[in-house]
This record gives sequence, C-alpha cells and structure tokens, in this order.
Amino acid sequence: MKNLEWDAGRGWWVADSAVLVEQVLSHPALRVRPLAEPVPAAIAGGCAGQVFGALVRMNDGERHIAPKLALQRALAVSAAGDAARQRAHTVAAHLLAEGRSIGAWAFEAPVATVASLLGFADEQLPAVARWMGDFVACLSPLSSAEQIEQAHAASLRLLAAMRELLQAAPQDSLAASVAQEAAAAGWRNDHAILANLVGLLSQTYEATAGLLGNSLVAIQQGAASVDAGALVAHVMATDPPIINTRRFAAERCAVGGVTVEAGQAILVMLGAAKRGFGHGRHACPGQQLAQQIAAGCIEALRSKPLPQLTWTYRASVNARIPEFHQ
Ligand code: HEM
Repeated sequence: MKNLEWDAGRGWWVADSAVLVEQVLSHPALRVRPLAEPVPAAIAGGCAGQVFGALVRMNDGERHIAPKLALQRALAVSAAGDAARQRAHTVAAHLLAEGRSIGAWAFEAPVATVASLLGFADEQLPAVARWMGDFVACLSPLSSAEQIEQAHAASLRLLAAMRELLQAAPQDSLAASVAQEAAAAGWRNDHAILANLVGLLSQTYEATAGLLGNSLVAIQQGAASVDAGALVAHVMATDPPIINTRRFAAERCAVGGVTVEAGQAILVMLGAAKRGFGHGRHACPGQQLAQQIAAGCIEALRSKPLPQLTWTYRASVNARIPEFHQ
C-alpha cells in the first residue's frame, strides 16, 4: 500500500489515494486548523474572523459535534423531495430573465437559492449574494488587503441580516429549521448559530458555482445526459469543484504509513481520491442540496439556447471553478 508522501518543496505531507484520504480524514489527531492559528492571521480580530472562528467547518471537538448535527438535520429536511431543485429553477430563471451574463449567473444563482431557502425575501437575494461574494473573497491565501476590508464589512451586514431573519423566519424555512435543530441538539451559542447560517451561504458560494460551472463545461464539451441530476452527479465524480483540503497534526501521530509530527500539515487530494464532498466527521452535509441546486439551475438554462462558452479558471489553491466570459 502507498504511504503519505513528503513534499519537501512545500513542506507538507500529501495524501492522494482514496485509502490515504480516508485515513487522514478519520484520524482524531488531524484537525481542520493549526492549533496555533484557529483563525487565519490576516482576518483575525475583524468581523470576518469572528464568523470564520465559529464555523463548524473550522472547528473540531465540542464546537463541532452539536452544531454539525443540527446543520446536518436541517439540511436533510431542506434537500428532501424536489423543493430545493424547484426553488433553484425559479431563482435561476428569474436571474436569467433579468439579463445576468452566464458568468455572473453561475455564481449568483446557487447562493441566491440557499438564501431563498433560508427564508430571505426575493428582493433581498441580490444584496445577500453580493455580500457573500465579498465575504468569501477573504478566505483565500491569495486575498488582498482591500478584499479583507470588504469582507469585514460584508460579515457585519450578513450577521445583522441573519439576526433579523431569525426573528421572523417562516416556519418551513431553512433558518427556522436550523434554529429548531440547534435547540434540540443543545447548541445554545447565538453568535455561533448566526455565523453558521452565514457559513451555509459561504459553503455554497464557490463550491456550488464550481459544480454548476463544471457541468456547463461538460455540456459544452458534448455531455449527453438528458437528466440534469445525472449530469451533475457525473461531473461531481469526474470534474469536482473542490479538489483538495488540508489537515494539521495536533500531536505526533502515525498515519498513512508514516509519522506526522505535531504542527505538520497534510494536503488531502479529494479530487484524485474521488471524495469531492470530503469524508468522515467533516464530510459535507450539503451534498444532496448542492446537487439539487446545480440540477435546478441547469434546467432553468435549458429554456434558451446556450451561447458558445469560453472560460478561464478562478485563481484558487483548492478549487476548480470556471469563470465564463459570456
Ligand atoms: C458542489 C458543492 C459542494 C462541494 C463540492 C462541497 C464540498 C465540501 C467538502 C469537501 C467539505 C469538507 C471539507 C473538509 O473536510 O476539509 C464540506 C464541508 C461542508 N459543507 Fe460542503 N460542499 C458543497 C456545497 C455545500 C452546500 C450547498 C452546503 C450548505 C448549504 C454545504 C455545507 C457544508 C458545511 C456546513 C460543511 C462543514 C461540515 C463540517 O465541517 O463538519 N456545502 N463541503
């Protein structure tokens, strides 16, 4: 069996097979953040850092277990049946009718759909999508100082919008469902609940735009699937939008045939291992929802002929997201 390999140039271990990826993502000593830097230094201290620091995606242990359970249960309700796909279809068709370019639409339609499922009114969706674009721009190691400033401002607005939403969220909305499941799971931290509602939008934003975009690329290259759901599942397996993640050793541990020292990082090649939604305790709880949203968006696009598309990939260390020029 293959072992983890040391990349001397980058100074981290690499897991690039399904077995290694599963071992790394299941190991209790391998954490989502370095112990010494729970929030990236570039955003720590500001509002975006306060959101980041509360996300289930960025925490292990107590700050992960109950919140994860609550989000998982609420997202399962939201993804049940055909409602999310239909909502995506409606939201996406509306944006097309308003004249969005394909490039702008592929980013806006998925996040606007999740905002709509959360309970935001139709007229709030463009602003929420715009703030989220500003927020996620700070999450990359490639972010500029100006993007980080905008992200702090967007985080403030998003937290305020979530607070307001929760006070009057429709009973059948995703936000109300998260609040209910949070109470049932004994998760009582109000800031963390608001931050994780924002997190549902940020987890959606680039990854689902990437899934939708890679599906459009597949259509452009002749993918024949009539059923949009089958096409999206195929793209998830062959050209997934999230291609890697990282883990950090909280203590010295044996994994993948080697000894990883405390503080060392591991690059986890999700795409190569065909684990585009992750694996183990941090596996994506939005996977059904994401695929339904991408399928609903593609169905909305079928009402008019697709223009000849050209694209380049967004600069990213972990994702493969086409940006269309049309
Ligand atoms: C195609 C779209 C998506 C892809 C490829 C994707 C992929 C992933 C991956 C790989 C992880 C785990 C990261 C890691 O372990 O380091 C993850 C976590 C997560 N995703 Fe997704 N995701 C997508 C869409 C969504 C959507 C639509 C939602 C919710 C609305 C969502 C919510 C989450 C949450 C809350 C986590 C954190 C789970 C945890 O840490 O326990 N994702 N996603």
